[in-house]
Amino acid sequence: MTSYSRITGTGSYLPPRRVTNADLAAELATRGIETSDEWIVERTGIRARHFAAPGAKTSDLGVHAARRALESAGKQATQVDLIIVATTTPDMVFPSTAAIVQHKLGIAGCPVFDVQAVCSGFIYALTVADAMIRTGTARCALVIGAEIFSRILDFNDRTTCVLFGDGAGAVVLEASTAPGLLASDLHADGKYLDILCVPGHVAGGQVTGSPLVRMDGQAVFKLAVRVLGECAHAVLAKAGREGDDIDWLIPHQANIRIMESTARKLKLPPEKLVVTVHEHGNTSAASVPLAMDTAVRAGQVKRGDTVLLEGVGGGFTWGAVLLDF
Ligand SMILES: CC(C)(COP(=O)(O)OP(=O)(O)OC[C@H]1O[C@@H](n2cnc3c(N)ncnc32)[C@H](O)[C@@H]1OP(=O)(O)O)[C@@H](O)C(=O)NCCC(=O)NCCS
Repeated sequence: MTSYSRITGTGSYLPPRRVTNADLAAELATRGIETSDEWIVERTGIRARHFAAPGAKTSDLGVHAARRALESAGKQATQVDLIIVATTTPDMVFPSTAAIVQHKLGIAGCPVFDVQAVCSGFIYALTVADAMIRTGTARCALVIGAEIFSRILDFNDRTTCVLFGDGAGAVVLEASTAPGLLASDLHADGKYLDILCVPGHVAGGQVTGSPLVRMDGQAVFKLAVRVLGECAHAVLAKAGREGDDIDWLIPHQANIRIMESTARKLKLPPEKLVVTVHEHGNTSAASVPLAMDTAVRAGQVKRGDTVLLEGVGGGFTWGAVLLDF
């Protein structure tokens, strides 16, 4: 009987248009909004991000990442028996982006659904896929984080629009007799919904309320630092492991200062922290699988390494997954 799930392949995709801080500052200046490369780098570590073309869909980004993950796992799309897409920027209100991804991959029949936990979405989706594999509901899952976050940014608000980017990451998670995923620790507290949200909704054929990101940056920063430290320790305790056992920390790529603070709390040297925020910005649910695939393809994360993944975001939601790669 299957006891575990294991990541057998990773993939990612960035839309071709790379926008540096200087490019963005020049664009914002045309609206009378002042920002600078220095300010963005110093406060966040971000130097560039990618923005999807106007006609691109979140499912397109997800399909590119999924194909690369399948290729690296040596699997055909027809072998997939579960698709979960973590996204905050779905193609449509419904059906799910996962259903659209399934169709674009040329397959049919297996269960598919989206998970909405904003920037923690991939951690939630991976935990759900792991549970479904361990109970025998699935044997070969595609778990995807995909976002076109630029569509919900307010380019008149310099406190948020400089932080985010578009992209997708995916893993193939398969049934395995050896671990794999070791433990997971998920949390949410809806009382913090106002500090990071897109408050609008569709009603009567119109968007009611703002369809753009609103954030209290300092409140988010403080909460993120606290909860990421807490769930890192919690997931290690659940798995019976120590901080010393971690080969790689791959946290949500939102802000280098938050990421370094988590590494310090775990007493990890900076070399064990996977950093892609400088090139990707915050890609929400895509950030962790994008960073993971980048680190795998760069030869950093290797088979057998112990990896701590962490997410935090709107809701407020947060969580961690500890795994042997
Ligand atoms: C957003 C964030 C970078 C702001 O950094 P900060 O050090 O808290 O900066 P503050 O909000 O105190 O703003 C400092 C000053 O910079 C200004 N400022 C804000 N955005 C700016 C920008 N893009 N360019 C230039 N100046 C900017 C502010 O207006 C403020 O000016 P003032 O002192 O004259 O009022 C930081 O709070 C943060 O990263 N928070 C977490 C955000 C996050 O990770 N969200 C996603 C979680 S999933």
